[in-house]
Amino acid sequence: MSLLITGGRIVTDKDDYVADILCDGETIAAIGSQLSAPQDATVIDAAGKLVMPGFIDPHVHVYLPFMGTYAKDDWDSVSRAAIVGGTTSLIEMICPGRDEDPWDAYQLWRGKAEGTAACDFSFHMGVTNWTQQTPDLLRRIVDDGVASFKVFLAYKGALGVDDQELFNTLELAEQLGVIVTAHCENETLVAELQQRLLAAGRTGPEWHEPSRPTIVEASGVEHITTFAQLTGAHVYVVHTSNQAAVEAAAAARSRGVNVWVETVISYLTLDETYAQKPDFEGAKYVMSPPIRGKAEQEYLWRALAAGEVSTVATDHAPFDFHGQKEMGRDNFTLIPNGIPSVQDRVNLLYTHGVATGKIDLQRFVDSASTQAAKLFGLYPQKGAIQVGADADLVVYDPGYRGKISADTHLMNTDYSAFEGWEIKGRPEVVTVRGKVMAEGGQFVGELGHGRFLARKPTH
Ligand code: URP
Ligand code: ZN
Ligand code: ZN
Ligand code: ZN
Repeated sequence: MSLLITGGRIVTDKDDYVADILCDGETIAAIGSQLSAPQDATVIDAAGKLVMPGFIDPHVHVYLPFMGTYAKDDWDSVSRAAIVGGTTSLIEMICPGRDEDPWDAYQLWRGKAEGTAACDFSFHMGVTNWTQQTPDLLRRIVDDGVASFKVFLAYKGALGVDDQELFNTLELAEQLGVIVTAHCENETLVAELQQRLLAAGRTGPEWHEPSRPTIVEASGVEHITTFAQLTGAHVYVVHTSNQAAVEAAAAARSRGVNVWVETVISYLTLDETYAQKPDFEGAKYVMSPPIRGKAEQEYLWRALAAGEVSTVATDHAPFDFHGQKEMGRDNFTLIPNGIPSVQDRVNLLYTHGVATGKIDLQRFVDSASTQAAKLFGLYPQKGAIQVGADADLVVYDPGYRGKISADTHLMNTDYSAFEGWEIKGRPEVVTVRGKVMAEGGQFVGELGHGRFLARKPTH
């Protein structure tokens, strides 16, 4: 099986040049000009288009029992949506309940993707409890190829860990050489502020942001980076929403802490006024940490351009408006947190970042693909266009104009947070390991093509 992509403008985290790409089977076999291909090769004319490495979303939720319900996507819907949107690898958070056995949870989460996913997939192992057995089980999971952990400093009484559990997790992670991804908010302060707002009759979705102010998030970052400094662990702060939190990470880095920062596309494109929409529509925009004001959004773009923020993920966490978000109609603390966005990340980042000049093409590819590959041990198999790399390629048409709508998206939710928004550019062709999986905005691949990406410790 051969695939020849001719005359495209190849854009990576560091390069920008015109060439042909020849894929043989699952990998890139040659890059050059006037390449010839076997007679039965599929040929794609990419003249006038950008050709980029398949995008990687390092923070998604697919199977997620959470806040009294379950996230709406499965690997069928999420992987088709991801691919049509240019994302060819997903890293999902395994989020076991406190009384669940970690190995069983790993098998459960992996089993849901295996045989169904159309895109490649990997996991961060959520640590939500610590017993005598935990270290051995986590070692086994890392040996099996899940070379990163996830901890929640938020969600008191549910997924959140206490300080002893946090310390144990970071210490073990450093022994094993795996990075720890972390949701950073001070959970005690969140719980206290929530109760005060509710007691004052402030029950609508617009009160979600005031219940988790920026300093509460920054405090979470300070907290974990202190633990990282003492244990030597490498930490990756997920879904960072504001300047104080990014600066808390930068301050730790200047003390020698190994810390990286992720933001998500919702923080770069939405602002706090969306959660203030009338008739409870604001609930569509409730996620944690909350969507902030315009000034924070502008700061994040600058921090992204400067590399202070390494990656742009989604934190895809899909809940319907009807029936799910509505569970919190009388109490914002009961609104399932999360925004569906796995299909829209790349197009929104291009439209609002590249097309506006806020970031250049190299930073675009770097933050939405290459950095995640490097941080999580997938590079250069993923996140690169070079001979021997997986043939995960996105032929991107920057001239395309269209609109986002829940009527046409492939995600399983009954709403889009970006309903009616214009996008400038979209993937015309998307390949996963040499196989054409999307064309002209349609999924044309097969379910089950996706493969588990076993990763090795990174340091
Ligand atoms: O609101 C969010 N972020 N929902 C998903 C769970 C998490 O915290 O990542
Ligand atoms: Zn989180
Ligand atoms: Zn280390
Ligand atoms: Zn998340």
